[in-house]
Amino acid sequence: MGTRSTIFIAAITLLCFLLFIGCSERKRPSEEAARSIIVFKHGKISGDPSIFRAILDRFESENPEISVREETLPASTDEQHQFYTLNLEGRTSDFDVLSMDVIWVPEFARAGWIRDLSHLASEQERSDFFPGPMEAVTYRGRMYAVPWYLDAGVLYYRKDLLDKYGFSPPRTWNGLVEAAQHITPREKDLYGYIWQGKQYEGLVCNVLEFFWGNGGDVLKEGRLVIDSRENMEAAAFMRNLIESGITPPLVTTAMEEPTRHIFGNGRALFMRNWPYVWNIYNAEGSPLRGKVGIAPLPSFPGKTPISTLGGWQLGVNRFSRNPEAAEKLVRFLSSPDVQKTAAITIGYKPTRRSLYQDAELRAMQPFIVSLHDIFMKARPRPVSPYYMMMTQVMQPEFSAIISGIRSPEAALASTRRQIQHILEADR
Ligand code: GLC
Repeated sequence: MGTRSTIFIAAITLLCFLLFIGCSERKRPSEEAARSIIVFKHGKISGDPSIFRAILDRFESENPEISVREETLPASTDEQHQFYTLNLEGRTSDFDVLSMDVIWVPEFARAGWIRDLSHLASEQERSDFFPGPMEAVTYRGRMYAVPWYLDAGVLYYRKDLLDKYGFSPPRTWNGLVEAAQHITPREKDLYGYIWQGKQYEGLVCNVLEFFWGNGGDVLKEGRLVIDSRENMEAAAFMRNLIESGITPPLVTTAMEEPTRHIFGNGRALFMRNWPYVWNIYNAEGSPLRGKVGIAPLPSFPGKTPISTLGGWQLGVNRFSRNPEAAEKLVRFLSSPDVQKTAAITIGYKPTRRSLYQDAELRAMQPFIVSLHDIFMKARPRPVSPYYMMMTQVMQPEFSAIISGIRSPEAALASTRRQIQHILEADR
């Protein structure tokens, strides 16, 4: 045989081999057609994305007729909200399942953008969920989403450094200032207290915690009380944290993740953040492993500390072409078993109260016991289809206060006037 024919035979053999591999890896056409693909839209998950993909892979193996495609949005809740309002207003069917911030559900339900999911949970099952998120997903007596994971603001502290200087975790804001003033000058490159101060939703969560921790509020029994003396004092205190150097000015442009990195690099003594951060700091290889403590936020003297209730809910797009498959995914992700896995792996905190009694979870994450109480006491932002309009008013005013551009008196008086208009329009 000549060299030419040898090359020809080799090429044909290779081609057949490649064709065989290609055909055997691809699903048969009938199988492909029977499988439905659903799109799950959610915000960027911190840490290793393959951890969440593994949970979705499990769903696919338990439901071989459904494939799930993940589509990720930016981490900022405000940007995600913008995406949904534009696309759902345009009646898109490009995604089936969506993850919603606790503050959006009444707005989306009222607009008719999400399916009524009341049939997914019996009264008895609903009573196991924390009351805060349950209230948030209920609109006119119907359930429009299933609470997926819960958030509440908590205080992270450097246990090793507090021990070194003989301090315990502070219960009051003055206690926090005292510890920071004593410790930071004695350590190299250490900020006192960092939090989320960029002009966005996270800032509102932080400011409300200071208001509430001083006995203030936005609305009390339907009355607008945002310009109360308690709130003015609390807002002035926040500005003062920056002026006195306890909090670095970079906080006025920081969201959750930058603060998580700064604290994670050992550059801050205290940080306010959501519970997800704990798993990342305690992962193998983390420089802070074992050195971080978690505690309820401090309050002002004689007042009760109250965290902002946060968290994400799973809903189904009203315009989805495959609502049955979408509902299956919602049920799966919010099931006790999968919530437990997400708590252990990603650090998402369960919305089902019974999981806080789970012996394995309690042994692995002992602080989950104290989180249960923090979650029970956490306060929701005003639950209203008009909340997003209110926050659009609060964000620039609060940002102006902490940046020293406006006095708390002027900014809160102006906030009051603008929110008053929104509430009047709602009547
Ligand atoms: C977290 C909370 C959410 C809040 C957001 C603010 O994602 O779960 O409720 O609105 O942070 O940045």
